[in-house]
Amino acid sequence: MDVRNLEGKVALVTGAASGIGKATALALARRGADLVLCDVDEPGLEATASAIRGLGRQVLYQRVDVSSRHEMRAFAEAVHQRHAALDLLINNAGVGLGASFRDTPLEDWDWIIGINLMGVVHGCHFFLPPMIARGQGGHVVNVSSAAGYVATEPLCAYATTKFAVLGFSEALREELERYGIGVTAVCPGIINTPITRRARLRGAGATEEARQRMVAFYERRNYTPERVAENILKAVQRNRAVAPISPEAWVLYYLKRSSPGLLRKVNRWLARAAGAASD
Ligand SMILES: NC(=O)c1ccc[n+]([C@@H]2O[C@H](COP(=O)([O-])OP(=O)(O)OC[C@H]3O[C@@H](n4cnc5c(N)ncnc54)[C@H](O)[C@@H]3O)[C@@H](O)[C@H]2O)c1
Repeated sequence: MDVRNLEGKVALVTGAASGIGKATALALARRGADLVLCDVDEPGLEATASAIRGLGRQVLYQRVDVSSRHEMRAFAEAVHQRHAALDLLINNAGVGLGASFRDTPLEDWDWIIGINLMGVVHGCHFFLPPMIARGQGGHVVNVSSAAGYVATEPLCAYATTKFAVLGFSEALREELERYGIGVTAVCPGIINTPITRRARLRGAGATEEARQRMVAFYERRNYTPERVAENILKAVQRNRAVAPISPEAWVLYYLKRSSPGLLRKVNRWLARAAGAASD
């Protein structure tokens, strides 16, 4: 999809109150798109919506929990009353969980799979049929992670959901090609967003100190969500299947293919540096 000028196009971003979702929604508005937004954080959502209005674009937004099929169905009905179909669907909403498998209670598995995986599935389930039926193509971006192709002990459940989003996106891409709809799995590395302050931590890493170490590490790395947003747009323009974002995401991506032994070492170092490792 040509994203250089998005006037007359409608884009939906889930998780648009903060971080990568907010930056992407604003980047799309700057290129002329009208926006549809959702999030569970209402004040944050209102702030993003008001910034988009300030850019002269239309915006429709609603408090929606992406893990709830009922809320997503009602949201899609409201959106399709205003817009026949979306041009761009960005399934971004997600949560973090720092925990080894032994420290992950089943409730956390339900929680993270519900948001990180089923949220993406719900977005596609409710918004793709009108996009397909309209017959004018479109694009889907599913936000996975570098943890969607490299797993570490302290990100056991998180990586599980992100691997799943990557696999889902690859299958969907095969299916939607015949309708002129592209699908991109976006895989950011270490991005400075509030996700580290909100993530659930379990086990030995579940201390305020460990959280502060992780927050400081992400801040020092300081790869901004605005840079991610620009790279998401580039990936859509090029119709990439998988888009690692940030140098570390690219390094891990290539090591995965060429040097699995070295990758394990680099990956463990990164996990320790982030302060979430429990060993
Ligand atoms: N920050 C990183 O280092 C990083 C790296 C790779 C991938 N990601 C992925 O990027 C995406 C965005 O994360 P971010 O870093 O911008 O974090 P963030 O916390 O700044 O933003 C996530 C947004 O999702 C919203 N959200 C959470 N649960 C929701 C739900 N049930 N329904 C609707 N909205 C919900 C939050 O309220 C928040 O506004 C996530 O999928 C995350 O896993 C982030």
